[in-house]
Amino acid sequence: MFGKKKQVSSIDKEQLELIENAQKRIKQKKRLYIHFVIFLICSVFFIVANNFLGIGETYIIAGQGWWFYIVLLWLLVLIYHFITVFITNKFMGKDWEKQQLDKLVNKQQDRIDKLKEKFVKEESKIAQTQAYTETREDVVAVEKKKTSELTIIVAAGENNAIGKDNDLIWHLSDDLKHFKSLTNGHHIIMGRKTFESFPKPLPNRTHIVITRQKDYKVPEGVIIVNSLNDAIDAARHDKTPYIIGGGEIYKQAMSLVDKLEITRVHADFENADTFFPEIDETKWQEVSRTTHDADEKHAFAFSFITYIRK
Ligand SMILES: NC(=O)c1ccc[n+]([C@@H]2O[C@H](COP(=O)([O-])OP(=O)(O)OC[C@H]3O[C@@H](n4cnc5c(N)ncnc54)[C@H](OP(=O)(O)O)[C@@H]3O)[C@@H](O)[C@H]2O)c1
Repeated sequence: MFGKKKQVSSIDKEQLELIENAQKRIKQKKRLYIHFVIFLICSVFFIVANNFLGIGETYIIAGQGWWFYIVLLWLLVLIYHFITVFITNKFMGKDWEKQQLDKLVNKQQDRIDKLKEKFVKEESKIAQTQAYTETREDVVAVEKKKTSELTIIVAAGENNAIGKDNDLIWHLSDDLKHFKSLTNGHHIIMGRKTFESFPKPLPNRTHIVITRQKDYKVPEGVIIVNSLNDAIDAARHDKTPYIIGGGEIYKQAMSLVDKLEITRVHADFENADTFFPEIDETKWQEVSRTTHDADEKHAFAFSFITYIRK
């Protein structure tokens, strides 16, 4: 309440000025009109006083009575007043009002232009920020792809079976060699159950075991993490870390990996208790396939199939 300054916008001030000047103009015209009426009355009065009532009839200058000079002088003052109102103050006439209006319109136009300019600047800033963010996200994604190609490696039957009783269902030595040659020297990420299915850690690979247990004990060199994200993070310096199973971890990793190395075992394993998720062909593109027939060392035919994310 107290000390609060009344806010008047610049547009309001202009409008106020316009109204004030219009009022001033009306007053000026009114005063001129009154002046004219008084002049007429007084002129008639002077003429009557001099010529009919004989007041000062002896005062004659250059053949004219005194009233003539007074009326003439007053007429000059009236003309001066007229000139002041209709010529000197012409700028306050209709043209002036139009000028004021134009001034107002121009001012508003300026403000609109400035707002537009500000809006465009802000928009371009937002666009730049968005573009930067998008570019940054792309860069991060590309960097991630460039530095680390996260790959799932699995052997799965035609019905996606991968294991039973925490063990594999088949023994395919060439598939084990394939697994060994691909994963050799790399990080291998696995669920706790898969890790326990090994008699001992596999040589020349860094094991990352995922478990929810806080005090899970592992041999020296094996990395323990409590989430899949932490596992991926622990393997970030490896160009090709592999997710090697089992069923639970494959399910969670499918949306995160860049590549699938599938050994498709051409048989159905109805007795399995663990399965690989269905490969969505709309998301994955087969880029290579090598078929291995069944033989004396391999009870089933199988194919090494590589998929990359579309
Ligand atoms: N055919 C193949 O190529 C292949 C490859 C690998 C495995 N397998 C087979 O798959 C089977 C094992 O698979 P599985 O699905 O039973 O087990 P798994 O995926 O190997 O391990 C499951 C365990 O991982 C941990 N885990 C899972 N998700 C987690 C998360 N988000 N955060 C923290 N910890 C998590 C839990 O450990 P805790 O219970 O300790 O918390 C969970 O019990 C076996 O039969 C194995 O032989 C087959």
